[in-house]
Amino acid sequence: MEFFIDTANLDEIREAKAYGLIDGVTTNPTLMAREKDDWRSIAKAVCAEVDGPVSLEVVGLTAEEMVAEAKALVAFGSNVVVKIPMIPEGLKAVRSLSDEGIHTNVTLVFSPLQALLAAKAGATYVSPFVGRLDGIAQDGMQLVHDILTIFNNYGFATKVLVASVRHPRHVVDAATMGAHVVTVPFNVLMSFAKHPLTDAGLETFLADWKKVTGKE
Ligand code: E4P
Repeated sequence: MEFFIDTANLDEIREAKAYGLIDGVTTNPTLMAREKDDWRSIAKAVCAEVDGPVSLEVVGLTAEEMVAEAKALVAFGSNVVVKIPMIPEGLKAVRSLSDEGIHTNVTLVFSPLQALLAAKAGATYVSPFVGRLDGIAQDGMQLVHDILTIFNNYGFATKVLVASVRHPRHVVDAATMGAHVVTVPFNVLMSFAKHPLTDAGLETFLADWKKVTGKE
């Protein structure tokens, strides 16, 4: 399973990279807006920092605008994946970019049929937003399960990138289902390593070791 970090913050990306945990990065206009620097310099720096795929999102609403933006975005690095919203014009853009060999990530996916359409259009990734569905009392992980079943039934190469992750349970469920990628915010990623029994056990070991060295 691949881990992407869901941030445009270079410090977070560098720290997560130091743990050896990062296979790629996803950004979006909201994440870019949280940063102080110009989005272009952030995009360039993130692409240079990370070996794996970096999703950068278009903001145009017509296929022509999206394709033109995509062609500008791929100039930031050979690892750019163009994020396209799951709207009908977006599907046209995905088809055209896919035909040109440009990788795409279809974002804001909230139904199995949207994912199926994106896969048929040639998307490299589809991003079901599980946390936002849970937030309206629907079942985000059921959506992931349905998409994986459909893709497996028909042998689609499109990868399922679980997005809008809110807590470690989403990741455990995604891994159990066999989702290809999860993208997680930095704080969620860091929380995976923590367990109260690990901390308590370590405290006991260190206290007991003091008894051993106290005898020397
Ligand atoms: C995915 O690529 C998106 O950037 C992200 O997961 C959105 O999640 P949110 O619901 O936390 O904004």
